Amino acid sequence: MHRKLYYIQTFGCQMNDHDSQVLAGMLEELGYAQANAPEEASIILLNTCCVRGNAENRLYGHLGNLKPLKEANPGLILGVCGCMVQQASEREKLENEYPYVDLVIGTHNIHRLPVLLSMVMQGQRVFEVWDENKEGIPEDLPILRPESHHALVTIMYGCNNFCSYCIVPHVRGRERSRKPEDILREIRNLADAGVSEITLLGQNVNSYGKDLEADIDFSRLLAMVNEVPGIKRIRFTTSHPKDLSPSLIQAMKNLEKVCEHLHLPVQSGSTRILQKMNRKYTREDYLNLVRSLREAIPDIALTTDIIVGFPGETEEDFLDTVSLVREVGYDGAFTFIYSPRIGTAAASYPDHVPEEEKKDRLYRLNEVVNAFAYEANKQLLGSIQEILVEGPSEKSAAIYQGRTGSNKLVHFELPATMTVKPGQELSLRIVEAKTWTLTGEVVEKDFKS
Ligand code: 5AD
Ligand code: SF4
Repeated sequence: MHRKLYYIQTFGCQMNDHDSQVLAGMLEELGYAQANAPEEASIILLNTCCVRGNAENRLYGHLGNLKPLKEANPGLILGVCGCMVQQASEREKLENEYPYVDLVIGTHNIHRLPVLLSMVMQGQRVFEVWDENKEGIPEDLPILRPESHHALVTIMYGCNNFCSYCIVPHVRGRERSRKPEDILREIRNLADAGVSEITLLGQNVNSYGKDLEADIDFSRLLAMVNEVPGIKRIRFTTSHPKDLSPSLIQAMKNLEKVCEHLHLPVQSGSTRILQKMNRKYTREDYLNLVRSLREAIPDIALTTDIIVGFPGETEEDFLDTVSLVREVGYDGAFTFIYSPRIGTAAASYPDHVPEEEKKDRLYRLNEVVNAFAYEANKQLLGSIQEILVEGPSEKSAAIYQGRTGSNKLVHFELPATMTVKPGQELSLRIVEAKTWTLTGEVVEKDFKS
């Protein structure tokens, strides 16, 4: 007999990617297999994001597109989970305007999927969303990881920072750290299964451990992970500048497996706007951090997140952001137009920036960001870079891809006499630089047939 199929579509950040891997793991344990397209599936789950308005609008567009599938196959189970449904307003909208949605699960109770699914199968329409997880962090949930060489490992959930624009603390709750022994056990198991690169995940990894009884912080956790045999590379995201300690900088410098890349969201280069954002650092504090990082780790790659058009942002504030980008010379940046989120402090601030002005600022900022990304890549021309192989590239099976420790994507052709496996390290000479990718050639010493 054929196994029944499921299809999960994920929106938003790596935390949602991780949750989707857990949802998939639970469905596999129930005997389902992954479908290639929604049309083949008997369960479809949409794992949603609400960090900006356009993520929500896209979700409703997708739901509309799925309606004909549900009409053609009334037995199809359609579920919506993730950050969006933590908001009562969105739940009401789903309940009233999308009657063909059978199942809604919040971010704190995804482990309840098997129970809730069986209720749906008995004919109920099930909406279950918790404000927090009173049962604590569920450990040892099944998980289906899509890659054999790389794994996302959540080290903490939630956020305490309440940046004034951000909905995340409202939908993901307060900070909860996993116990170091649980994290290490998971990473040892991953290493035993052949994983060589891990990304430690949390909304604010730099405050890891503050809520635990154990005497531990993020830099000590990194030191412990660094000891796990078989793990070659350690990445982490996201870091809040206000909690980036000198001991973390030293850990990044001294621990050989921790990659020389830091994603350090700045959000704005204007101290006045940073204060309104409730970021708890000034432009100068941030630039001082960058200086300390570069002193300790000269070849570190820095990337960031920036919001343009925050309420009250003047042209002068915006130009402060542009000048900060020039001063830091980022390797890359995710840039966003400010999007008011109901329930956050900034949504009710005065002086919202007109939409046209926001778009214009985004365009001008991206020109500068892209120029610096290209410049950083050009600096690598002719150098030898150690990459971790990911596999064939998305574009062509004949072209492989991998990443440098600094997280730059490198494409390369494989000599006919050579094979590589995902997770393997390889030396490449960089021969071409574009804004977002590099091209490399396998260097002589790696030629083995
Ligand atoms: N509008 C625009 N961008 C936002 N971000 C978070 N909230 C908003 C918002 N309301 C951005 C921040 C954050 C990234 C994940 O999303 O830059 O770092
Ligand atoms: Fe949102 Fe700020 Fe928390 Fe990041 S640190 S998740 S931007 S509130």
